[in-house]
Amino acid sequence: MTATSVRVPHLPTVEPGRPLDPYAWVEEVAALTEPDAVVWCDGSDAERDALIAGMVRTGTLLPLDPELRPRSYLARSDPDDVARVESRTFICSDTADEAGPTNNWREPAVMRAELAGAFAGAMRGRTMYVVPFSMGPVGSPLAQLGIEITDSPYVVVSMGVMTRVGTGALDLIVAGAPYVPAVHSVGAPLTSSDEDVPWPCNRTKYISHFPTTREIWSYGSGYGGNALLGKKCFALRIASVIGRDEGWLAEHMLLERVTSPQGRRYHVAAAFPSACGKTNFAMLAPTLPGWSVETLGDDIAWLRPGDDGRLWAINPEAGFFGVAPGTGVETNPTAVAMLASDVIFTNVALTDDGDVWWEGLTPTAPEHLTDWTGQSWTPSSGRPAAHPNSRFTVAAAQCPTIADSWEDGAGVPVDAIVFGGRRATNVPLVTRAFDWQHGVFMGATIASEQTAAAEGTVGELRRDPFAMLPFCGYDMADHWAHWLRVGETLSSAGRPLVFGVNWFRKSASGSWLWPGFGENSRVLAWIVGQVEAARSGSDEGAVAGPVGLRPAPGALDVSGLGLSDDDLAELFAVDRAAWQAEADRTEEFFAQFGDRLPAPLRTQLAALRHRLTRP
Ligand code: PEP
Ligand code: NA
Ligand code: MN
Repeated sequence: MTATSVRVPHLPTVEPGRPLDPYAWVEEVAALTEPDAVVWCDGSDAERDALIAGMVRTGTLLPLDPELRPRSYLARSDPDDVARVESRTFICSDTADEAGPTNNWREPAVMRAELAGAFAGAMRGRTMYVVPFSMGPVGSPLAQLGIEITDSPYVVVSMGVMTRVGTGALDLIVAGAPYVPAVHSVGAPLTSSDEDVPWPCNRTKYISHFPTTREIWSYGSGYGGNALLGKKCFALRIASVIGRDEGWLAEHMLLERVTSPQGRRYHVAAAFPSACGKTNFAMLAPTLPGWSVETLGDDIAWLRPGDDGRLWAINPEAGFFGVAPGTGVETNPTAVAMLASDVIFTNVALTDDGDVWWEGLTPTAPEHLTDWTGQSWTPSSGRPAAHPNSRFTVAAAQCPTIADSWEDGAGVPVDAIVFGGRRATNVPLVTRAFDWQHGVFMGATIASEQTAAAEGTVGELRRDPFAMLPFCGYDMADHWAHWLRVGETLSSAGRPLVFGVNWFRKSASGSWLWPGFGENSRVLAWIVGQVEAARSGSDEGAVAGPVGLRPAPGALDVSGLGLSDDDLAELFAVDRAAWQAEADRTEEFFAQFGDRLPAPLRTQLAALRHRLTRP
């Protein structure tokens, strides 16, 4: 064999900052992956209906009872393909330093060669779909474009819910607008169609990002976070890099509008790690009379300084890909109503009458179900009926509390930024940061406890700065520096106030101190009260403490909650010794970033320690 007879597969070449001809690129990807057919998607209802019909035929989708759950389907994944795979998520920046200590870095040339081997022939026997999409309203100055190539019809239909797919996006791309090229394959080529399975995937997985060329290559998984490339891969990992370069922020944040009884509107963006109730907070039903909360987004927000010195935000997504378990009439009636029709469920349980169920949907489980793996299930089976990470995929427009302006291309002006974690001890119910730098320090030090901590000690903490640990496409400390810079471009009147919240504090006896859910409207009311106070140059309603500003006595409305004075004190208690220990942990956590840690954060830590020593 001569050297020239060996064709070494390679990924298409993408030059940073150079327009990439979409037609030539698609041809190159097809030449590499060798699909049976190439289909350009237009995002139409007819296209979606045909894809769904095809998936019903192949068993990928199970139609639910049309009376109980109209136009809704259940997908059961391969049991080994149920979640994001952080260990196989790679940030292939030019240098390891640029990816930072909290990402899996791989050298771009090495990863490209490895991916080329995996993608060579990967789509044989399948159809390759070309999915042009916009993250954010098509044509909005805050939006970004992408093309996802995929061999999964489940991905095409899901992208149609989660993003704006179609000719609107393609027209802009063809006219020369920059776009993110994203390639996805389930990694299961076929030699004949009768060997296919309902959920094809591969044991080997790559979720690879190339920040310099803004490319995404995803192989081996059909699961949302790994395969719907507009979401975590683009709207967070790649967009965070674009935002760093262009002066804006791509964040793991919900976005909501709060309206006071006086009819004043405020916009709040809030970052919480996964499983801390972001979707519930985005759809909160206020218990405080006269207040309303409307939903703009439940997972991702893009925030950009405007000419007016304010921070303007959009939700770049068009749907919700939410965790089903724990979503119930008591915890989130809005989400339950949103799921009445036109939903793709993945890995929930099936009822005997053709509807869906999951843990927490109703207080008691049905007597018999088919579990997420397709096995018969009863309450005594001793295993969950729905996978703990089972999901719903639904259009945002179906949310009963969606704000009328959620598709406004100009975005909404953000008044307050909220950071939260799940903390049984130490962290008060709500704290206002002294200033922007202190707010960035709060975001950088978000942590959650896996389990309740022992009394009086700081529990085992999982650090999740800005709730971005698995989602930041570059060095986390550079991300903090970027936040500090963005703050400086905002006007002092336009700069949002920053808050830390913790709904999860427990008493010495281990019971929740705060009821949470709709009662969190009381915290929101204090937050927007602080926004008003700050506008008139006062700190009315707040008192300074060692960890920040807290509600002045009587400023947080707790009427009717039956909270004892002791419990209220405990909710806001700051244990100085425990906080000094926490400061030690923060110092250890910061140390891994070396010289890249911005000096103002070092100063914030020192200032915190100093305040803790004062009476
Ligand atoms: C996902 O895995 O696609 C996802 C949305 O993740 P998370 O719920 O952790 O944000
Ligand atoms: Na291959
Ligand atoms: Mn998320």
